[in-house]
Amino acid sequence: MNAPALDPIAAGRDLLARADALARHSDSPDHYTRTWLTPAHRAAALQIAAWMREAGMAVRTDGVGNVIGRYEAAVPGARAIVTGSHYDSVRNGGRYDGVLGILVPIACVGELDRRGERLPVAIEVVAFADEEGARFQTSFLASRAHLGKFDTALLERRDADGVRFDEAMRAAGLDPAAIADGARDPASIAAYVEVHIEQGPVLLEAGMPLGVVTAIAGGTRHRVTVTGSPGHAGTVPMAMRRDALAAAAEMVVAVEARARSVPGLVGTVGILEVANGTGNVIPGEVAFTVDIRAGEDAVREVAQRDVFAAFDAIAARRGVAVAAVRNHAVRATACSPRIQDLIAQGVAAVGAPVRRLASGAGHDAMVMAEAAEVGMLFVRCGAGGVSHNPAETVTQADAGLAAAALLAFFRGYR
Ligand code: HGY
Ligand code: MN
Ligand code: MN
Repeated sequence: MNAPALDPIAAGRDLLARADALARHSDSPDHYTRTWLTPAHRAAALQIAAWMREAGMAVRTDGVGNVIGRYEAAVPGARAIVTGSHYDSVRNGGRYDGVLGILVPIACVGELDRRGERLPVAIEVVAFADEEGARFQTSFLASRAHLGKFDTALLERRDADGVRFDEAMRAAGLDPAAIADGARDPASIAAYVEVHIEQGPVLLEAGMPLGVVTAIAGGTRHRVTVTGSPGHAGTVPMAMRRDALAAAAEMVVAVEARARSVPGLVGTVGILEVANGTGNVIPGEVAFTVDIRAGEDAVREVAQRDVFAAFDAIAARRGVAVAAVRNHAVRATACSPRIQDLIAQGVAAVGAPVRRLASGAGHDAMVMAEAAEVGMLFVRCGAGGVSHNPAETVTQADAGLAAAALLAFFRGYR
């Protein structure tokens, strides 16, 4: 019997309503920001767990705050299709980034549960607690912990308020010593599939609601510190200055210029902090972040090398010191051709055109690829494809179609 597909219109309406409800759990009353282990983050975890239970899943949480719902297979204990995304956000971000990849599979499992339908595989929905790393600069913290790859050096990191990573965990009722307890056996994973908004304009410009991801760009992120000499803004002659901020500004422009030089290469400085910044003081110390990405690792690595060489030349000419600490690195990740084709079949089964495309944004799928075959289903972004921006949007119809396509993928998975 061909089980009827889920009703995309009703599903889409419910999905966007839930995304709106989840967005109310924000660290700030003024914009949508949800960083790891804040009260808003913990409240969101409880809401996600409740929706998972409502959909017929057994729910557990692990040592870093991942919320994991399991919908058992026809034969209990079978391997699982693991699916999910993250429920933390960037600062002043969009409400669908990550969240849609949690809500869509919950809607699919709810449909299976309503019909009493069991599949040859279990479905495990994982709401990853920290992917953006906005609080402790710890990208992919949660998916790495899920696979037993947590880096204990992170325990000493401090957030912008000086709160230590392990203190934040204890304050949220989590035990830093128990992080490894939640690690899963990779053999229990049949495949990993992540639904995510595209965060770009390709599907929008192609007039297509869904996309099948072929590969995910790799990236590195560094924190760079420039040290000059603080001084009186009124008395130090320009030729005698070792101005850390002027040097950093030249370095920021050097990142942009190098990234512009190669199609597909991107470079971003997202944070720039002036230590003890005062209007009438020549900046003595500045720190900024550098995020460099490309679809090919060799392109990114050469660009990284060139950018640091430019930093050294600028520092030498200006008489300042420059140092960089790497706090994130992930290699470009190819999606499994087998999983891509199964996702494409799910997309075609709901009558949508199949469009394959690469992802410039990073995703937990890059970490999960270390343990299983991975694939991603992209959902068209409205508003010009913008993301990491409160204007981020998706339509009810596209969200509902994504649920119908993912359900067809689950049912067709062999
Ligand atoms: O930065 C990224 O690509 C993702 O949003 N963490
Ligand atoms: Mn993001
Ligand atoms: Mn994301």
